[in-house]
Amino acid sequence: MTEAEHVSFQPETDRNWEAFYKQDVSAKIPSFSRDGRIYDCIYAQQFNRPLLDELFTITDKLRDITKTVEGEDYVSSLLRNKRTMLWFTQPSTRTFLSFLNACQILGMNTSDIRDAKTSSEAKLETFYDTVRTFSSYADVLVMRHPEAGAAEKAAWTLKAGDRPIPVLNGGSGPDQHPTQALLDVYTLDRYLQRNMKRNGDQASAERGSGIDGKKIALVGDLKRGRTVRSLAYLMKNYWDVELTLIAPEQFKMESDIRGFLDKHGIPYHETDNFEEGIRDADAIYMTRVQDEHDATKGESAKVDYSGFGLKPKHMRMIKKSCIIMHPLPRRTEIDSEIDQDPRAVYWKQERNGMWVRAALMSYVFKKEGDILGYNPVKK
Ligand code: CP
Repeated sequence: MTEAEHVSFQPETDRNWEAFYKQDVSAKIPSFSRDGRIYDCIYAQQFNRPLLDELFTITDKLRDITKTVEGEDYVSSLLRNKRTMLWFTQPSTRTFLSFLNACQILGMNTSDIRDAKTSSEAKLETFYDTVRTFSSYADVLVMRHPEAGAAEKAAWTLKAGDRPIPVLNGGSGPDQHPTQALLDVYTLDRYLQRNMKRNGDQASAERGSGIDGKKIALVGDLKRGRTVRSLAYLMKNYWDVELTLIAPEQFKMESDIRGFLDKHGIPYHETDNFEEGIRDADAIYMTRVQDEHDATKGESAKVDYSGFGLKPKHMRMIKKSCIIMHPLPRRTEIDSEIDQDPRAVYWKQERNGMWVRAALMSYVFKKEGDILGYNPVKK
């Protein structure tokens, strides 16, 4: 961009954004990379298997290092000179807190806005001016937004300005939640691998990911559930995975995801029969109704969701090695009695989010070598 172009650049009104947004994701992904690495984390499709494996190795190493005070001091010195802006104008508990704590683990300072009514967005500041202002104070923007495409727009907008910073998508409308998908895949991998070892299949456990060759049931509001959508995209990175998509007719997985699964040769089976669908699964991923995305008031309430909940009786029907996951928050999809069952890993999944997000942050700032190469001083 020349200086003249920069001065006249009006991202809010510029039709270039619409043209850019309409492109196929695969054509846009290079725009969110720099030096052959992910710069902005916008789409789950940006991740390949080597990068996933690397991020999960960093995650494990971070967990290990920070078990000692010395290691914790080391890790918290790595990004002491970096600041994070947490812009969360749609409700969140886990994504917000796990990113906040990930920043603290890495020694980063944070600022946050959690309600658009308390920021100058309420004074009708433009989207561009809002995100440009964040970049004046921060080195990375993590955002949760009610609109689909908002994180992408922020990244695209900042790139055209004079102080670009990376943007990490913490959930944008009903379309994507890529960092949730990362922690979901990490959890699937680690707990399915644990089960393989427990069942005496040490060789398979050590050969590949715990996800390879597994049958995964995705249950609930698959139409508007951004976590299941992003998770489905990541499945392209694993061998011989089979998906069972269990949903009421009104909440069936959208054609874009089904088309993606077809394109990547990932077999899937759709059903509205919950008990049939979960019976031979290696992992069951439950979700709640995403009624915040209702187009008309009360739309979701008209859908009979009562048959899509996991109850203690179901735990006797499913595999002994099956793991139960949920991105949370839950309503009635999983009976709280199931929390005591060792197959329920959703509380571990939630905590994994903090470590995986810390690994992602360290990768974004190219600190993975410092983490993987860390050796405690022998006393
Ligand atoms: N899983 C998830 O995104 O949870 P929060 O909405 O609490 O961040």
